[in-house]
Amino acid sequence: MDYKVKNMRICIEKDYSEMSKKAAEVFACVMKETPSGVFGFATGGTPVGLYKELIDMNKNNTLDFSEATTFNLDEYFPIKASNNQSYRYFMEENLFNHINIKKEKINIPNGEADDINEECKSYENRITQSGGIDLQILGIGMNGHIGFNEPTDHFPKDTHGVELQQSTIEANARFFDSIDEVPKTAVTMGIKSIMSAKSILLVVNGAKKAGIVKEMLFGNITPQVPASILQLHPNVVVILDEEAAEQIKELL
Ligand code: F6R
Repeated sequence: MDYKVKNMRICIEKDYSEMSKKAAEVFACVMKETPSGVFGFATGGTPVGLYKELIDMNKNNTLDFSEATTFNLDEYFPIKASNNQSYRYFMEENLFNHINIKKEKINIPNGEADDINEECKSYENRITQSGGIDLQILGIGMNGHIGFNEPTDHFPKDTHGVELQQSTIEANARFFDSIDEVPKTAVTMGIKSIMSAKSILLVVNGAKKAGIVKEMLFGNITPQVPASILQLHPNVVVILDEEAAEQIKELL
């Protein structure tokens, strides 16, 4: 079912698999209109099903990545690209190695850069020089973060270095052998970098995110819930599974 909340289009799908298919449809629609467009990607568990769908479309020759440019939201810092927990490694395993994208058109913050501040500036410049992001895929953290923009007292603007919050470190520990191995800092696109995308596709699944989905869509716009800023973006599609939509159903 499709609904409208403020400017946002909300689609509720039966389960994770249907959510992923719907998200792939929305993505493919934009990519077919702008094959040489700029696409923003996220890591984490949520978009893996969406990436599988995109790989299938690319293999069936219904979606062509050959002219596309990509920017990822974030990367741990410092981390070697070859580390199997780096976001570069994640993107190669879950998407880039399986589609016809040109390697030189892939942009991910460099976790091996000598200077984190220089890397942030150069990444932001590369986004601007590319003409800006046409479609940005997002997930949402349990605390309302988007990218690694954690709850705080202001909305950070550009790509910047961040200290990860304990709740994020705990959430990400599931991907590591132990919580001590989870990096404590990262580079992330800022809120302005994300809000400058021409369109945004947010995917959310699971009952544990139902509360933050309600806050993000119906709560105050506040940097304490960074994703709440999306209420102000003119072109957002939010795709939820039934469980993630549990607390908003009566409000739609
Ligand atoms: C990942 C990212 C994060 C995740 C969020 C949700 O690049 O920017 O904001 O989207 O932490 O992660 P999952 O999907 O693992 O629940």
